Amino acid sequence: MDTRQMDVAEDDDQVRVIEAAPPSHRYARGWHCLGLADSFKDGRPHAIHAFGTKLVVFQGESGKLNILSAYCPHMGGDLSEGMVKGEEIACPFHDWRWGGDGKCTLIPYARYVPPRARTRAWPAMERNQQLLVWNDPENGAPDPSIIPDLAETFAGGWSKLHWKSEVMETNVRELIDNMSDLAHFFYVHGEGKQGAPSYFRNIFDGQVGYQYMEFHQKGTVLRHDPAVPFTGPVDDLVPGNFRSEGVYYGPSYMINPQWRNGLPGEGQIESLLFNCHYPITPHSFMLHVGAIVKDDPRLTPAQNAARAEMIAARLTGAFYQDVHIWKTKTRIDNPLLCHADGPMYQLRRWHNQFYCDVADIDPLMTKRFEWTADLSYANEVWERQAAENREREASSK
Ligand code: FES
Ligand SMILES: [Fe+2]
Repeated sequence: MDTRQMDVAEDDDQVRVIEAAPPSHRYARGWHCLGLADSFKDGRPHAIHAFGTKLVVFQGESGKLNILSAYCPHMGGDLSEGMVKGEEIACPFHDWRWGGDGKCTLIPYARYVPPRARTRAWPAMERNQQLLVWNDPENGAPDPSIIPDLAETFAGGWSKLHWKSEVMETNVRELIDNMSDLAHFFYVHGEGKQGAPSYFRNIFDGQVGYQYMEFHQKGTVLRHDPAVPFTGPVDDLVPGNFRSEGVYYGPSYMINPQWRNGLPGEGQIESLLFNCHYPITPHSFMLHVGAIVKDDPRLTPAQNAARAEMIAARLTGAFYQDVHIWKTKTRIDNPLLCHADGPMYQLRRWHNQFYCDVADIDPLMTKRFEWTADLSYANEVWERQAAENREREASSK
């Protein structure tokens, strides 16, 4: 008899009750991506619902992108309904002009501007072809260096940036939890019929969170020593095998290089995913998924572009497999974990550093933490389950 089953049966009067406090109305301190920078460069003001309020993004004459609170402090007009005039945004209600630094520069019908006429300007930064905004409930100075600058990658040899944005009607913690939830990759992301994670490692260190993962198809051999973090390309040419290094820089901006063996004839695929988001309310967030694909030198530019488009669609699509789960699951503060699950509580502890005052950050939140999964048992089971799933699918056809 399976002894693990017996342990459970012996104290079956103990029922685990799900705890779920409402999500905080405080929004994470850090850089958040609002979208592709170019999408804001059309000379018009853009409304963004974020951080429980409304922002306006506009490009002044000089080309600089600015982010202000959308509501005008004069009488509450909505600046995102206004017009860009020179370097300023003009309110649609009484035409007060607001500069990118938040200062009122002109009230056309008044001789003087009140010296304290100032609205909230949100620090903005263009990086990796995206527009980022800095949120800090304590109004601390932003640190641009936390977000890697991939200017070299964007300079050539890679596809254009493919981009998809969608509002998710849930608290962003559901997405963050993915970082440590290794089993769902098998059960939710389609690998239940093909392969399974054969290597999984989390590191939380300072403001950076890592998820290293490797997937191998059934019957293939893991080449590297699981104790050694992998680098570089996938080396055994089995379609579907891949390596992924997802790294969160701060609370909401992940860069995720991936190396994958494509379908027969596709060769090796090197790609880079951006997974970034901003909160709209405590119960919703905007998810952006971007992808660029490294050119295959054997192909023409047109062929590379078509290949990248197809691959990017495949990569960005995988993200949306979580959405159905999020729609139907409940929030849970006290997940009941087993030894084969990832370090969910340490992950949440790390992420909580972005939700408290800087002075209150517990050193444990930022202290380096490392965990590598022992998947020897799970991989045996997953191989069996994958075979069963394939059989079931074949017989239902
Ligand atoms: S409300 Fe904006 S100018 Fe009056
Ligand atoms: Fe997922």
